[in-house]
Amino acid sequence: MAPVADDSPVPADRAERAAAFAELRDRALECRRCRLAEGRTQVVFGSGDPDADLMFVGEGPGAEEDRQGLPFVGRSGQLLDRLMAEEMDLTRDRAYIANVVKCRPPDNRDPKPDEIEACRPWLEAQVDLIGPKVIVTLGNFSSRLLLDTREGITRLRGSVYPYRDRPDGTPVQLVPTFHPAAVLRGGGEPMAGMRADLVRAKQTLGTAASAGTGASVDAGGSA
Ligand code: URA
Repeated sequence: MAPVADDSPVPADRAERAAAFAELRDRALECRRCRLAEGRTQVVFGSGDPDADLMFVGEGPGAEEDRQGLPFVGRSGQLLDRLMAEEMDLTRDRAYIANVVKCRPPDNRDPKPDEIEACRPWLEAQVDLIGPKVIVTLGNFSSRLLLDTREGITRLRGSVYPYRDRPDGTPVQLVPTFHPAAVLRGGGEPMAGMRADLVRAKQTLGTAASAGTGASVDAGGSA
């Protein structure tokens, strides 16, 4: 399969980065790297600020996302918006929201390993170009993929993990939390956990910002 991005370094210039991001998106919208292309209405590439310090990564589009072409616009998204506002004092336009797979799996089934692998280069290229300081992974699929682990979200959440370095050498920190759909199903306990994780993400963002290029946060756990 052809690579989605070449090996050229991430442009340091903001306008060049924005152009590269727009080009990446245009190419992703035509993607036919896996069978999910056959059933989609449209590719849900992501939404928000492509220059954000904070990124959320979910699992894959549902019916409403597939219809609108935007991530997290159904019930899960409403909860995410609410908790982001209540715990982080943020609106979604201040972050970037993407998914592990960009096309809706039929009947909302779980994405398959080969579909996740086929789609992974798009997500990696998004992370490279956005250059977030903190990534919040929502649920098992994104947490396992980005932390390269088989551990489940219940064990993973509650800690901050070093993910990798940004092109400028500062670290990207990863904060795993429950998927909002699991919180909608599970009630009080996962809700409290997700709230605490979002507070943790906000604190991690604050630490990264005040530390400037030398950002350092206690990783608290390991992948
Ligand atoms: N669930 C996800 O994981 N992503 C979406 O975009 C919507 C629901």
